[in-house]
Amino acid sequence: MSELPVVNSHNEWDTLEEVVVGVIDGATVPSWHIMLQATMPTKQWDFFKQSGGQPFPKERIDAARQDLEECVHILEQEGVKVRRPDPIDFTKPFSTPEWQSAGGLYAAMPRDLLIVFGDEIIESPLSWRSRHHEIWAYRRLMKDYFRQGGKWTCAPTPQLVDELYDENYTEPEEGEPHRYVITEFEPVFDAADFMRCGRDIFVQQSHTTNQFGIAWLQRHLGAEYRIHQIEIKEQSPMHIDATFVPLAPGKLLVNPEKLAKVPEMFKHWDVFYAPPPCTPVEHPMYMSSRWLSMNVLSLDEKRVMIEKGEETLIQDLKNWGFEPIPCNFRNFYSFGGSFHCATLDVRRRGTLQSYF
Ligand code: NVA
Repeated sequence: MSELPVVNSHNEWDTLEEVVVGVIDGATVPSWHIMLQATMPTKQWDFFKQSGGQPFPKERIDAARQDLEECVHILEQEGVKVRRPDPIDFTKPFSTPEWQSAGGLYAAMPRDLLIVFGDEIIESPLSWRSRHHEIWAYRRLMKDYFRQGGKWTCAPTPQLVDELYDENYTEPEEGEPHRYVITEFEPVFDAADFMRCGRDIFVQQSHTTNQFGIAWLQRHLGAEYRIHQIEIKEQSPMHIDATFVPLAPGKLLVNPEKLAKVPEMFKHWDVFYAPPPCTPVEHPMYMSSRWLSMNVLSLDEKRVMIEKGEETLIQDLKNWGFEPIPCNFRNFYSFGGSFHCATLDVRRRGTLQSYF
């Protein structure tokens, strides 16, 4: 088999060869801000208001670390090379000329910060102030990928001044049009608001990704790529990967509660509506809904890493022709992501194609 560039990834399903898996060590409660009010579960608001800048409870971090170790072990057994970022001290306060943050967040979710198009890794312009320096945890890896031939791009560093945020944001009532906590002051996006299907890229506008950010990425990528915006009905959108999950050419997993409409261009694909998640309602979820059930990682067009307790979806995937690989990950769920969030697929064996 021919040697691929060290960075080479075009979609969500080509055979996975190298992946970055996040670390949970040092996870720190982000400082309270209107961004959290727009996206975090209401029942956790008091926790965030009281604990911003302090480490998350040790027992939760320890349990999530165990899940990550199991995930790494399985990936390696499946023949995937795993690399890890460096935890940094997220309890250190920091500031810019215009604002301060009591601390950072974590290096658990590389999917939010980085996105790969072919041989290029792009650092995204994150909109949460507490995440402004999170990329430092990945800089050793970025330098290394660059030295090995990867292209390394940083989107314009956002200022994150008050003009970016709608301080008076409240969630729209049922039936009211979408509104977002971020303005169009400057380009921002979280990489996790995008899904790659070769030349066609899908995005949701969200509380972390604005139109300016989407336009920046489209112009940067140029005419070889087409970015399509999906229609969602969720009022607190943040990250597309529990809403719209292409698993293989012709196979799309969607969220019945979050996606408003399957895009017309998928009319020749099998579209499967995910079943309700199996995670108990009382399981601690600081940062997301239980729909992390859908936040799976494809190792190729058949093998899919999925949380062990998601028995309904595991069975559905088997019936659909997949080979689910179960792994304990519920304790990691507590921090707002599952396998897709916790990883960055740096190298997949494949080429740039059009699937539509
Ligand atoms: N914000 C999404 C999770 C995205 C991985 C949710 O809470 O369902």
